[in-house]
Amino acid sequence: MTVDPSHVIIAIDGPAASGKSSVARALARKLRYVYINTGAMYRAVTWHAVEQQVPTLEPDKVVALLADTHIVCGLSQMESTITINGIDPTPFLSEEAVNRNVSNIATVPEVRRLLVPLQREYLADHDIVMEGRDIGSAVFPETPYKFYIDASAEVRALRRARQGLQDSIVARDKIDSTRRASPLIIAEDAHVIDSSNLTVEGVVGEIFGRLKQKGLPLGEL
Ligand code: CDP
Repeated sequence: MTVDPSHVIIAIDGPAASGKSSVARALARKLRYVYINTGAMYRAVTWHAVEQQVPTLEPDKVVALLADTHIVCGLSQMESTITINGIDPTPFLSEEAVNRNVSNIATVPEVRRLLVPLQREYLADHDIVMEGRDIGSAVFPETPYKFYIDASAEVRALRRARQGLQDSIVARDKIDSTRRASPLIIAEDAHVIDSSNLTVEGVVGEIFGRLKQKGLPLGEL
């Protein structure tokens, strides 16, 4: 698939708790682009699997579940929304059971084959900032605007703990980086930012500068 040249896609990837979500949301607001959180889509499928008591380490059972799973992705106030079989799972997406199982679900190629086209569809009508693990490498490899946000393991663990969430980010990163289907990698042409000692505004400022340098028309912003 080639990127629709009439719309802009800014890809933001990185490991767990690197600050991607805060940065992607703030950047989207600043640019007045739509913000798409692809992690929420993998989390939503995981929540559904946990609810249905499907063992997430058994891909055949996960694939069987998908046959009865109707996913609708939409937008509300310039941010992505999702329903699974008519239910909005947003309040449950940071639950411990979801954190524990999401990387297993994300290794299943059929899950990615289901979600990636839904992610790509957003570009048909909108300029977007999309965050995830494989946006620059697999979902929109053609975009010239790719960023990889990193932070030290200590800082990332601290950030997640401050959110009061139980999340084995080291285990999740390992599964995400070593899986066969679209692993977490730094795309060759991505601009890497270490956010360990930067504020959200600091990272957004760096991305903004880079976008200008690359010639993205940013008007009066
Ligand atoms: O916010 P956090 O960094 O904790 O993770 P997330 O972006 O909500 O993603 C949760 C999980 O979904 C990741 O650990 C990956 O296993 C999976 N994921 C993925 O495989 N591909 C994406 N584009 C986004 C998320």
